[in-house]
Amino acid sequence: MFQKTSLSAVAVLCGAIFSQVQAADNMTQYQDEARSVVKTFGQTLGGELKKALQEQGPAAAISVCKDTAPAIGSQLSRNNGWKVTRVSLRARNPMLGFPDAWEQKVLGDFDARQARGEAADTMEQAEIVTEPQGKFFRYLKPVVTQELCLTCHGAREKIAEPVRDALAKAYPHDAAVGYTVGQIRGAVSIKRPL
Ligand code: HEC
Repeated sequence: MFQKTSLSAVAVLCGAIFSQVQAADNMTQYQDEARSVVKTFGQTLGGELKKALQEQGPAAAISVCKDTAPAIGSQLSRNNGWKVTRVSLRARNPMLGFPDAWEQKVLGDFDARQARGEAADTMEQAEIVTEPQGKFFRYLKPVVTQELCLTCHGAREKIAEPVRDALAKAYPHDAAVGYTVGQIRGAVSIKRPL
């Protein structure tokens, strides 16, 4: 009797450990896949942005951020069946770039960690989150401000007038100015239904 009980206890325990190991395994896989999507997003967008800035100038390049960035996000979302977006605590486009509660919390953490001296480019957050709509793998990776970004996200008074005008026209609620190089501009966010 004793043996039987302890055996089944061991079986239950092993089952629990096994499912934990499996969950950890899935987590690694989800995280790797998320990293790869973020990389594709960054590379595609960065390439398009540089090309447009060089060939057409900053005022025209606004359309790359306005149309191409969400298009790349939607394309990646459709390819994978996940939601792939860009978010920021100081969004230019509040309709698209406004973070939800989980994203706000993690973006706040990223800023706090950076303020304590941690390098932003090695930060990431991966979590399984249960929401009213179901269970999701959620992933957030900081997007760091580079020199190139200041053309449109730097100090307002330093942004060239045609760019400033075009931005003011398209984004009356723009909060995405005043950044400096190295600052976290926002993040790429992935939400994957499980
Ligand atoms: C040519 C102007 C321009 C440049 C250069 C530019 N951006 Fe943007 N950025 C925009 C516009 C316009 C939007 C709003 C896009 C939209 O409507 O969704 C935006 C939105 C974003 C967002 C989404 C969150 C938000 O604020 O709405 C992030 C993140 C972002 N930019 C990061 C960057 C980074 C990082 C760089 C440099 C690598 C950069 N941008 C360079 C114009 C620019």
